[in-house]
Amino acid sequence: MINSFDAVEIITAKRDRNELSDPQIDWIIDAYTKGVVADEQMSALLMAILLNGMNAREVSRWTDAMISSGERMEWSMLDRKTVDKHSTGGVGDKITLPLAPLVAACGGAVPQLSGRGLGHTGGTLDKLESIPGWRASLTNEEMLDVLKSCGAVICAAGAGLAPADKKLYALRDVTGTVPAIPLIASSIMSKKIAEGTSALILDVKTGSGAFMTDPKKAGELARIMVELGTRAGVKTRALVTAMDVPLGLTAGNALEVRESVEVLAGGGPEDIVELTLVLAREMLDAAGIKQLMDPADALNNGKAMDSWKAMIRAQGGDPDAKLPVAKEQISVIADESGVLSSMDAMSVGIAAWRLGAGRSKQGEAVSFGAGIEIHAKPGAKVAKGDVIYTLHADEPLRFERTKSALENSFTISQDGSQIERLPLIIERIEG
Ligand code: URA
Repeated sequence: MINSFDAVEIITAKRDRNELSDPQIDWIIDAYTKGVVADEQMSALLMAILLNGMNAREVSRWTDAMISSGERMEWSMLDRKTVDKHSTGGVGDKITLPLAPLVAACGGAVPQLSGRGLGHTGGTLDKLESIPGWRASLTNEEMLDVLKSCGAVICAAGAGLAPADKKLYALRDVTGTVPAIPLIASSIMSKKIAEGTSALILDVKTGSGAFMTDPKKAGELARIMVELGTRAGVKTRALVTAMDVPLGLTAGNALEVRESVEVLAGGGPEDIVELTLVLAREMLDAAGIKQLMDPADALNNGKAMDSWKAMIRAQGGDPDAKLPVAKEQISVIADESGVLSSMDAMSVGIAAWRLGAGRSKQGEAVSFGAGIEIHAKPGAKVAKGDVIYTLHADEPLRFERTKSALENSFTISQDGSQIERLPLIIERIEG
């Protein structure tokens, strides 16, 4: 092991608001990954970082040390340029599903390593696993084969990629240290840089359903991540986007796959189509890809759908199979007439989770059919008795627990004058 330090010395340095040196950072990440530094010591350091922060040099070195803890993937053997997108996560955020095959249809190669949901935000792998037969775990060779044949692959990150982050993320989850900007930025960027993409678009969510509820903090996180990517030679841009209301009209695994397929068939909700197209154009532009066609055309002429079906089949799935449906459904109705003036993303996310779409601890099974269908979004006129949500669950007992989460999740005004919404795209940051 390079140099030897004392973990307590490093913890007290950060506790006392001092900068950590490059060798101290390299050592602590390496020693923690190898089990030489104990969880309780790393927990204390993480809390000191959450409270006292890290400067740009420290975050950059921390990120590099996490990348060096594992393998770095490489795609120079492909005849297409690689580009990826990462979202910090939100309610109903199924954008990766239509976006990856869409960018592939337009000429890009998308090597997307995704995660599972924890808490109120869903995970891309859980959504795709609702497709009968689809497999998330691929070897590096299989990943390359799918990327070569389909232009896009979405799969789980292998154990060899940024193992330091796997240990650190699990520890942050149980020590109240997830929402530290330097730790979020280094966690996300270590995985994306190690994944080997040459260009990256970050979708940093803000609003009640996001990690960063404050748009200014989301902008700060976005700028740090763009700087980390750019320094590592990845062409990185970020969009700060709205997560005050759920994206689209569904939250839940199979429900979101169904909605994504609608978008790939040229339909689907306006906000999903708009964000998918904005992100696709940014990805193609950032990577300098000579476009085979415009992304909007690829959604309308079936090319993006062809890429989707090929990608799902290549990972063992049947894109034409019937998706799982929950055993029970109930409706939540408007108790007055007027204009729907707000809909809280966080409440909808928690409700979908309580219905069984998400998990409360690592490794728990999710219900593929569970979730929420939204029938009206802010700005829509509603009459007393109209259905606002349909709840889907396998066990009827879940409905009672869910209704309390949704109790104050929407408001109806007489004339719509109180409608307050964040614009879909709030800020754009280029490296
Ligand atoms: N996603 C990650 O991968 N890491 C974080 O710290 C937060 C979101």
